[in-house]
Amino acid sequence: MSKKEGFTLHPFDQENGVQTSGLIPGRYLKTGHTNDRHSTAYFGVAPSVFHALLKRWRRTRPTAPVGGFTFIDLGAGMGRAMLLAAEYPFRKVIGIELNPILTKIARRNLQIWRAADQTRMPIQLVCGDAVEARFPKGPCLVFLFNPFGASVMRLMLKRLAAAFADRPGQLDLLYVNNEQDEVIVRHPGFTQLFVGQERRSRVDAIADHRIMANQPDGEYSAANYEDCSIWRWVGKT
Ligand SMILES: C[S@@+](CC[C@H](N)C(=O)[O-])C[C@H]1O[C@@H](n2cnc3c(N)ncnc32)[C@H](O)[C@@H]1O
Repeated sequence: MSKKEGFTLHPFDQENGVQTSGLIPGRYLKTGHTNDRHSTAYFGVAPSVFHALLKRWRRTRPTAPVGGFTFIDLGAGMGRAMLLAAEYPFRKVIGIELNPILTKIARRNLQIWRAADQTRMPIQLVCGDAVEARFPKGPCLVFLFNPFGASVMRLMLKRLAAAFADRPGQLDLLYVNNEQDEVIVRHPGFTQLFVGQERRSRVDAIADHRIMANQPDGEYSAANYEDCSIWRWVGKT
């Protein structure tokens, strides 16, 4: 997307020499996959919101130390959340992104991150449908920044419930802009640990408002906070 079409750089990109800025509505993210039509949009998570939610999660008494968890971003986009997660002491960082162009950009960003020595941990990025994701052994922290609508969310939970059927306590969900929270509420296998707002820092609020103000079709809006939730998988259904 060109500057003329509404592209505005986020300071995160200016500071780190990566490319994660912009807002791309779901209809411009077509790949030919049946789940395309449920894709919301590309937008990188506000770093301040990400860090605040991680801090909150660490206070929920996770069932293992952070170093035992694999961080998995379902709908990784250009990789901003993966880059941020790679600075924490997770066991591994995994991302899954449906759109191949975004995946290519994310791969380049991850290379830049490594070259700048900002992380040494194992990182894996897969281009594909989140619903087909495979989950590693051990505790997993799944990150969702409102990637898809209700029907894909239902499939996703079914998939997670099958993968973690015999692993209660080994799956936590961090959900930013939690539009499909009701789908999780109705699932008996998850318990809610937090629901509320995480505030954007001033820098993120200014940047995100500017990006929203520049969007070509004016359909999205940004508040000074994100509605978020945290969930723990507690058992079989
Ligand atoms: C709001 S962006 C979040 C990007 C990233 N997680 C972050 O926080 O910086 C949501 C992303 O989910 C992707 N997505 C939507 N449906 C998907 C699916 N079924 N499988 C994998 N990725 C999907 C979109 O292409 C988009 O890049």
